[in-house]
Amino acid sequence: MDPTSLQRLVFLTSLLSCSTNQARLTVTPSSSQVFEDERVSLRCEDASDGWTVRRNTSYENRAQCGVDWGRSAGSSCTISSMDPRDSGEYWCESPEGSTSNTITITVSGGSVILQSPALPVMEGDNVTLTCRTKMADNLSADFYKDGVSIRNESDGHMTLLNVSRSDEGLYKCRVQNEGESPESRLSVSEKPPVTTTNTPTSSSSSTTMDPSTTTSAPPASSLHLVFRVICHLVVFCPYCISTFLMVSIYRERARGSDHAEQGLDDDYDDVMSAVTTEHQF
Ligand SMILES: *[C@@H]1O[C@H](CO)[C@@H](O)[C@H](O)[C@H]1NC(C)=O
Repeated sequence: MDPTSLQRLVFLTSLLSCSTNQARLTVTPSSSQVFEDERVSLRCEDASDGWTVRRNTSYENRAQCGVDWGRSAGSSCTISSMDPRDSGEYWCESPEGSTSNTITITVSGGSVILQSPALPVMEGDNVTLTCRTKMADNLSADFYKDGVSIRNESDGHMTLLNVSRSDEGLYKCRVQNEGESPESRLSVSEKPPVTTTNTPTSSSSSTTMDPSTTTSAPPASSLHLVFRVICHLVVFCPYCISTFLMVSIYRERARGSDHAEQGLDDDYDDVMSAVTTEHQF
């Protein structure tokens, strides 16, 4: 009895920690700036039913997707044609008022944007910022941090190697004869201690590949996958144990009884009550 109840306690605790899994907001394209008329999708991940995407803009507060703006489908939300007035802070919120991370999106009515990660990047990552114009990519661009010109890149891509907290700030870019982008904040978050098994080379090389998805998504998502698998196992195990208990108790009773066939109904009731009391603990 004791080992079983201990096991169940462990299972229950794990279940509870699974259900408090934090919801996350992601955005496609994964950029903090977009051009006017571009399509943007927002998604609440790891969110249960009832979570909605909300936003603060210059003219509304806690405005809900599907009601005040955008088109909602489940825990996703789409704006088919962005307007500069859609610039603002976006987040997911549960009916109880729990909130996810916040993503700042700036919509440019001009001809230049800076594509920078919408989500915070991890310390040690390589981060590529891309200066884009409506008409052409890969044009020579000047990059600014906190209003100060820091670099000129002939192809419009600026890669920050091995970022640290000191790389945080407001970034913008300028293309000769085209104009300059709005400013966006780059946030660098501390590396979580659990990522010691990750080879830094593979994670940083994969983050530099695609400038539009520059965050440390690969290690985070594989870690996440492992977590989900454990969660599902933990949910599945109590059912297996209950079934095993039921069968073993029934067998014991059936063996102990002389009139197995006559006592079948009673035994079944006994087993059921035994199982239900087990569950009440
Ligand atoms: C949205 O606006 C409300 C009211 O001004 C404010 O309390 C809240 O912190 C804002 N949320 C975000 C994520 O900016």
